[in-house]
Amino acid sequence: MYQKSTFKIKKDPIILGLESSCDETAAAVICGRRLLSDEIISSATEQAKYGGVVPEIASRAHTEAVDEVVCRALKKAGVTVKDLDAVAVTYGAGLLGALLVGLSFAKALAYTLNIPLIAVNHIRGHLAAAYLVDVNLKPPFITLLASGGHTAILHTESYTSFSMLGSTCDDAAGEAFDKVARVLSLPYPGGVNVERLAAGGSGSIKFPQALVSGGNLKFSYSGLKTSVINYCHNAEQKGEKINPADVAYAFQRSAVDPLVKKTVECALKAGVKTVTAGGGVIANGYLRSSLSEACAAAGLKLVLPEKRYCTDNAAMIAAEGLIQYNACNFADMNINAQAQIPLK
Ligand code: KG4
Ligand code: ZN
Repeated sequence: MYQKSTFKIKKDPIILGLESSCDETAAAVICGRRLLSDEIISSATEQAKYGGVVPEIASRAHTEAVDEVVCRALKKAGVTVKDLDAVAVTYGAGLLGALLVGLSFAKALAYTLNIPLIAVNHIRGHLAAAYLVDVNLKPPFITLLASGGHTAILHTESYTSFSMLGSTCDDAAGEAFDKVARVLSLPYPGGVNVERLAAGGSGSIKFPQALVSGGNLKFSYSGLKTSVINYCHNAEQKGEKINPADVAYAFQRSAVDPLVKKTVECALKAGVKTVTAGGGVIANGYLRSSLSEACAAAGLKLVLPEKRYCTDNAAMIAAEGLIQYNACNFADMNINAQAQIPLK
């Protein structure tokens, strides 16, 4: 029987984080907010052959990698399983078969060691990544969240509560990067390849930026995506050559500028002095430098996770695990993986 009521809460617990929601099998160990280790085995190269993530391939790759990645993380951290105070694992959102690998592994470990199992919402993990960057970071703060499935500005009021100030009406920013990558025949993973291509481009083309006037906090990416597609198709029909680097450059600006502008506006309006960011799109170099400059100009402190902690990783799952641990929010052993979970 799983005895969640008997767990003693420690001040700086050692938590193993596990992530397997997509194509990254990742494990990390934290002690309080100190990151001791962080390991990833990725099946991205295998997935690239198919132009995207094939769920069955991802599940098999997780099954092969999970034991090794956990052993590596424990070894690097200089701990053994007996030192662990809790296991935090992504239970959704993501690919069901992929999630089940990490979740089953975490359940077995927590049950055997009689330590708490903490079920983490993947997106809340992205939000928690900032806590590892600055160990003194405390709510309130404003977060720009931009991943493959979400684009939002959130106001974190306390460690366990936040409100959504703005979100996308249609596509997520990462989804737009991925779709434009496909239009430009770039390989998987799309976002980073659009960024690489854009590095060689210049401002010869302009695409529209959606909903940027009048204090609107919504985002929209479907119009921008259509503009890129139309531009490429029109050129093709006329037999004209496009400059893909200029297309990538113009798209990147139109995708990123509204994110930066609205995040700073939100922070100033809310009277909050600190801004954080999370999710794969935050790994984008143009976004990082624009957001840094805009926050500095507005007198806001920016807590920006390193690129590797913006894309999927287990350190952020352990970080969110710590928040749930401190709130005694432990999972039952019968918890199941979920393909979709609302952010709140
Ligand atoms: O957070 P993440 O790794 O997975 C999700 O939880 O969705 O985000 C993946 C998204 C993808 O859409 C990917 O194209 C985008 O983040 N991405 C980027 C960059 N790196 C990843 N977008 C723009 N520039 C990048 N460097
Ligand atoms: Zn993610």
